[in-house]
Amino acid sequence: MASSTITTGGRHYFLLVAFSLLSSAAYGQLSQEYYASNCPSLDQIIKAEVDRTLFTDQPPAGGRRMGASLLRLFFHDCFVQGCDASVLLDDDLTKLIVSEKKAAPNDKSLRGFDVINRIKGEVEKACPAVVSCADILALVAKQAVISLGGQGWPLLLGRRDSTTASMVQASTDLPSPNSDLPTLIAAFDKKKLTAREMVALSGAHSIGLAQCANADKTTQQQRCSNANSNSLLPLDVQTPEGFDNLYYGNLPNKGLLHSDRVLTDRADLRDLVRQYASNQTLFFVDFASAMKKMSEMSLLTGANGEIRLNCTRVNYN
Ligand code: HEM
Ligand SMILES: *[C@@H]1O[C@H](CO)[C@@H](O)[C@H](O)[C@H]1NC(C)=O
Ligand SMILES: *[C@@H]1O[C@H](CO)[C@@H](O)[C@H](O)[C@H]1NC(C)=O
Repeated sequence: MASSTITTGGRHYFLLVAFSLLSSAAYGQLSQEYYASNCPSLDQIIKAEVDRTLFTDQPPAGGRRMGASLLRLFFHDCFVQGCDASVLLDDDLTKLIVSEKKAAPNDKSLRGFDVINRIKGEVEKACPAVVSCADILALVAKQAVISLGGQGWPLLLGRRDSTTASMVQASTDLPSPNSDLPTLIAAFDKKKLTAREMVALSGAHSIGLAQCANADKTTQQQRCSNANSNSLLPLDVQTPEGFDNLYYGNLPNKGLLHSDRVLTDRADLRDLVRQYASNQTLFFVDFASAMKKMSEMSLLTGANGEIRLNCTRVNYN
C-alpha cells in the first residue's frame, strides 16, 4: 500500500506516514513505544528495580535466583488465558475470582509476587494508572534474562490486565515435569508453539532451581531422600545463576527434570539440542524469537480488560 502511494507523489506519501503514525499510537493499539510519551521513565524503573532485586536484595526476597522465578512467572501467566497478568490475582469471592496460585503447577512453587507488587508500586508513583501489570510482568521477565547474561526480545506494549483468572486452565494447560515428549509437544501446540520453539524455550532452565519432588526419578534416587522432597537442586548443574547454553550440553542424562531429558527423544530435536549446545548465539536468537511469540499470546487491548491499580486484585469502582 505504501509503495503504490510513493509513486503518486511525496505529499501523499507524507500524509499516509503521518496518518499511520497517529493510528499506531491510537487507543487500543499495541506498540513497542507505547509508553514513550505517557511513562518515559518506565524502562529505567524496570531495569533499576530488577537489578536491585537480583544483585542487591538478599534471598529469599531477592538474589539471582529471583531472575529465574520472574521469568517462570511470566511463562505461567502466558500459558493461562494469555499474557494478561491473571497469574497475579488473589482469591476474591465478591468478583468470583479463584486464584491460579493454588493450581498444582504453581502452588508452593511460583515465586516473585512480592517483587512484582513492589515494582508496580514504583511504577504507579512515577506514572499513575497507565501501565498494566501484564506489561510490567513482560518487561521484568525480559530484563531478568538480560541482567543474567542473556539476550532480550522486542515486546509489544499496551496490553491490558484481565478481570478474571482460571485455576482450571492453570491446572490443565501448564506442562508437567513428568510428561513424555509427545505430551509436552501437545501442550505447546495447544498454545501455537512448535516443538522446536519448545526446545528453545526450555533453555530457560539454564537458570533457577527445582524441588527434589519434581526431579527425574534417577536424580531423586541419587540426590534426594524422602525427608527432603522440597530441597532445591539446580536445573542447570553448571551455571544456575547465568543465562547461557550450558543446559543443553547436559541433556539428556544430566537434565534435572524428566521433561528436560525427553527433549532429545526425537532425532530432529536431539540435533537442535546439539546445535544449541555448540552455538550459544543460535540459542539466544531462537530463544528471543520464541519468547517474543509467547509474549504475544492472547493479549487484551482496547475495551477489554483494565489497567489494574494493584496487581493482586481487580479494580473496584
Ligand atoms: C517444557 C515444559 C516445562 C516444564 C514441564 C517445566 C517445569 C518446571 C518445573 C517442575 C520447575 C521447578 C518448580 C519447582 O520445583 O518448584 C521449573 C522451574 C523453572 N522453569 Fe520450567 N518448565 C517448562 C518450561 C519452561 C519455560 C517455557 C520457561 C520459561 C520460558 C520455564 C522457566 C522456568 C524457570 C526459570 C524455572 C526456575 C524457577 C525458580 O528457580 O524459581 N520453564 N519448570
Ligand atoms: C551460530 O549461529 C548463528 C545464528 O544463527 C550463526 O550466524 C553462526 O554462523 C553460527 N556459528 C557457527 C560457528 O555455526
Ligand atoms: C494490594 O491489594 C492487597 C490485597 O487487597 C493488599 O493487601 C495490598 O496492601 C495492596 N497493595 C497496595 C500497594 O495497595
